[in-house]
Amino acid sequence: MTPTTATLTTNPAPAGAGGGPAGARGIRRLTGLKPTGHLHLGNLLGAIRPIVGTQYRAETIVFLADLHALTVPHEPARVRALTLEQATLMLATGLDPDRSLLYVQSQLPQHTELHYLLECTTGYGEAHRMIQFREKSTAEQQVRLSLLSYPVLMAADILLHDTDEVPVGNDQNQHLELARAVAGRFNAQYGQTFTMPRAALPEVSPRVMDLSDPARKMGKTGSSDAGTIFLLDPPEVIRRKVQRAVTDPGRTVGYDPRRRPGVANLLEILAACVGGSPTGLAADYRSYAQLKGAVVEAVEGLLRPIRLRHTELARDPGYVRRVLADGAERAREGAEDTVYRAKRAIGLLC
Ligand code: TRP
Repeated sequence: MTPTTATLTTNPAPAGAGGGPAGARGIRRLTGLKPTGHLHLGNLLGAIRPIVGTQYRAETIVFLADLHALTVPHEPARVRALTLEQATLMLATGLDPDRSLLYVQSQLPQHTELHYLLECTTGYGEAHRMIQFREKSTAEQQVRLSLLSYPVLMAADILLHDTDEVPVGNDQNQHLELARAVAGRFNAQYGQTFTMPRAALPEVSPRVMDLSDPARKMGKTGSSDAGTIFLLDPPEVIRRKVQRAVTDPGRTVGYDPRRRPGVANLLEILAACVGGSPTGLAADYRSYAQLKGAVVEAVEGLLRPIRLRHTELARDPGYVRRVLADGAERAREGAEDTVYRAKRAIGLLC
């Protein structure tokens, strides 16, 4: 598929899809984006495109996880700016606000309300075992208490909406397992309250690696700006980053992720942008220079419409804010219902 417009969706809405009475509803998918950095190509291909691309087949909820951004040292103005930027980019990639829900986590107070109830259902040891907590807490001098309870808030995010599927990468799988354990325990102890969520691996999920260090995932903490293509990078920056991508010794273009990870990464990116398989595409190029030229063009072809749409939307931040406020408002009734059920079940007077 060579995208020519800013939309990543390929399927028209089936008649009568979405909405509907509980029980008769379709699969509900939810994802959270944490406003701690600029969105990059890895986010687009691995998370955003799969969820936006299926929004007419599944009920889709996307929220900006701003509360999660406060679990590590943060700058208030930056969190606020990134929240708006990421929301604007979600719209720019084709998330349809009439069809899907898009809102900011802190604008739906039921997240924090449910978080507390789930903290009363989670063991200290359970939270303490989380790999991400262990990694991040050794890197920080002052560890925030919220970093420990981060996965409990994530469980609340998921269970609040009776979510069926959560598209997760490897790094979030353990957190999803915790959410499942907490839901199971709550239901067993207090009666059926929560829908049991499951992990959904995106149908095609290329692992996009850092261009200057193909052993690292693109955009992770510690990966370089030079090796990360941000969605809002101007064309000349994209070109420079791709031209400087590390390749491997060898003269012919071939797909061998283990021995030639740099070239394999370029082929995977190309395949994700234009379709086809990395192995099949490899045969089309005689030199690394030729391959890089094709990658520049393909990535620019994918990002240009998103960038243009973003520029348009960013001219009217009032519009984006209204979409977000409307999203929170539409999410409220269902969220209140879940919190009510949980409060009653756990023994609170309501
Ligand atoms: N923890 C996720 C991340 O770091 C963001 C997130 C927060 C999330 N709550 C969620 C993702 C609920 C999926 C579902 O990327």
